[in-house]
Amino acid sequence: MGSAPEPQELLEIAVTVARDAAATAYRMRTEGVSVAATKSTATDVVTAADRAVERQVIEALRRLRPGDAVLGEEYGGADTGPTGPAGVRWIVDPIDGTVNYLYDIPHSAVSLAAEVGGVVVAGVVRNVTTGEEWTATAGGGAWRDGRRLRCSTETDLGQTLVATGFGYDPKRRAHQARVVTELIPHVRDIRRLGAASLDLCFAAEGRVDAYYEKGLAAWDLAAGGLVATEAGLRVGGLAGAEPGPDLVIAAPPALFAPLHDRLADLDASGGP
Ligand code: IPD
Repeated sequence: MGSAPEPQELLEIAVTVARDAAATAYRMRTEGVSVAATKSTATDVVTAADRAVERQVIEALRRLRPGDAVLGEEYGGADTGPTGPAGVRWIVDPIDGTVNYLYDIPHSAVSLAAEVGGVVVAGVVRNVTTGEEWTATAGGGAWRDGRRLRCSTETDLGQTLVATGFGYDPKRRAHQARVVTELIPHVRDIRRLGAASLDLCFAAEGRVDAYYEKGLAAWDLAAGGLVATEAGLRVGGLAGAEPGPDLVIAAPPALFAPLHDRLADLDASGGP
């Protein structure tokens, strides 16, 4: 296996593929959308567009970078390709914010990231409807439409606008709702916008101050997590853990500890 490609090279591929994917998702939305199947629960839906867009992304990546591994939300099991220090793995969420997409709420995104040796080095998140596009490379900053992004400079948890989301399992949601009930008196307000990748990108440019959620999958986090990190947010889990399914907290450095401690007290990573 040769040396690892540069992050910028991978980003250029990611952007090309994500733009085409978002165009397909947009076109399919205008033609009408219905539920094709359900996944973990009756409310965890997949549309024909989720599947078609992921298939398109996988085919494009196979053409442009044959031999790389691909991990996708809809065909996630088909994760094949190289591993090792120079191995590239692509992580795709064909439509993050599927429920928004289903209801024609203009807040869903294609999310595509490239990992090298298990570390995310490039990522793009593109809003299917508005065309807003966030990109980042490891060490190269976070950008939207030619503008370098910096996160919020807020330092007071009481003035913090916090985005979060809920899983699809009713018992998990009940626990998450209890956490929000206890958190909301201590922050400016809560936003539940419906697409984790966009929550992270919004935090990257201070459209919200911070974000947390339990239950994120790799495809929800990969690209948006890099955008947030490169915009100056601290992205982590509880008690020094890596961000992951147990909990993702993305907050400006001064807010990370107060938000983290409040979420730990509320057992935000607990429950089903
Ligand atoms: C979901 C969205 C939502 C978040 C859920 C995710 P999907 O992804 O990102 O905002 O709260 O945890 O599963 O199902 O729309 O791809």
